[in-house]
Amino acid sequence: MITDARALRQDHVPQELHHREGKIDEISSALKPVSNDDPGEDILIHGKSGTGKTTIAKYVLDHLKRETLDVEWGYTNCISNASKTDILYSLLRDTDRGADLRKEGTSASTFLDRLQEIDGQFVAILDEVDVVDDMTTLLSLYELSNVTMVLICVDEDRLFRDLDIRVDSRLRSAQKVELDPYDNDELADILWGRAEAGLEFGAINDKTINYIADIAAGDARLAIALLRQSARYVEDTDIEDRITVGVVNRIADDAKADIATRYVEKLSTHQRILYEIIADAGEISGGDLHSKYEHRATEPKGKSMRRKYLQSMSREDLIEKEGEGRGRRYRLIDH
Ligand SMILES: Nc1ncnc2c1ncn2[C@@H]1O[C@H](COP(=O)(O)OP(=O)(O)OP(=O)(O)O)[C@@H](O)[C@H]1O
Ligand SMILES: [Mg+2]
Repeated sequence: MITDARALRQDHVPQELHHREGKIDEISSALKPVSNDDPGEDILIHGKSGTGKTTIAKYVLDHLKRETLDVEWGYTNCISNASKTDILYSLLRDTDRGADLRKEGTSASTFLDRLQEIDGQFVAILDEVDVVDDMTTLLSLYELSNVTMVLICVDEDRLFRDLDIRVDSRLRSAQKVELDPYDNDELADILWGRAEAGLEFGAINDKTINYIADIAAGDARLAIALLRQSARYVEDTDIEDRITVGVVNRIADDAKADIATRYVEKLSTHQRILYEIIADAGEISGGDLHSKYEHRATEPKGKSMRRKYLQSMSREDLIEKEGEGRGRRYRLIDH
C-alpha cells in the first residue's frame, strides 16, 4: 500500500506545489534582490491552518538556494523555540556557521555576530511568529544588514494587536502574502499528488479522494493526515485492500487526534506547563490555572504572553475556553 512513507508526512515539502503559482511568484520576487547580494523585502505570510504557509516558504527558499550560491536560510518554529537564544540557535543550526556552537552558555549576541559573518545574504523563516515572547528577537534580526525575514502566522490582525511599536513599523512595511483555504478541487489535486508519490497505483480512487477533500474543508494538513491514517489502516488490517470511504470514516477521529498530539509534542516549556495543568484538571478556572502555573514555572511568563499561548492552543483545538473575566474556565478537548 505505502511505497514512500515520507511523501505522506506533514512536514514533507513536495516536488510540486499545486495551485500556488501566483503566491510563489510573489514571494520569489520579494526575495529577488537576495540573488544579487542585496537584502530582499521582508515578507509576512498569513492564512488559516493547512493553507500551505510553512511549505510554500521552505519551497521558495529551497529553489532560491539552488539558483543562488551565496544565500543561506534558516527555519525556526516559535512554538517550539520560544526564547531569543532558542530562535537564533535554531536558525544558525541550518547553516554551516553554527555547527560548533552550543545553545547553553552562548549569548544571543554571539549568535547574532555569527549571522552577520555569513558571506552573503541570510533569509530567516520565523514560523508561528505570533507566540514569540521576546520581540527584541525580531528587532535584533532587523538590525542585521544581511538578513531578510519571512514571518508566518495564522492571524495577521492578532499579530499586530500587541506588537512593540518598533517592530510594528517595520512589519507594516513587509510584503503581505495571504493564503486562502483550498477549494475541494484544489485539495483533490494536492491529495492526488501525495497518493501518486507515496501509495501503490490503484490504492485510492477519485470518489474517495473527493470525500477526503470534502471532510478536510480547505485544510491540506487535515487532508494529508486523513490520507496517511487511511493508508496505515489498510496496511495494518485485513479488512480492506484499498482506501475506501468506509476506511476514511473509521479513521477520521484518529487523524484529528494525531494532529493534536503532534502539536502538543511541539510545545515549548511554558506552553506545555499550561497545557498539562488543564489536561490534568480536565476543566479549570482561569484563576486556578494562573496560580498553578505561577507555582510550577521557574520564571513565569507575564499574563499577556500566557493569554497568547492559550489562544494558540485553543485555535489548534487542544483546549476550549468559556466565559469572560473572573468567570472564565478552560477545558481540555478530548479527541
Ligand atoms: N499547494 C500545495 N501543494 C501540495 N501540497 C501542499 C500544498 N499546500 C499544502 N500542502 C501540504 O499540506 C500540508 C499542510 O501544509 P502546511 O503545513 O504548509 O500548512 P500551514 O499553513 O503551515 O499550516 P499550519 O497553520 O497548521 O502550520 C503539508 O503536508 C503540505 O506539504
Ligand atoms: Mg505551518
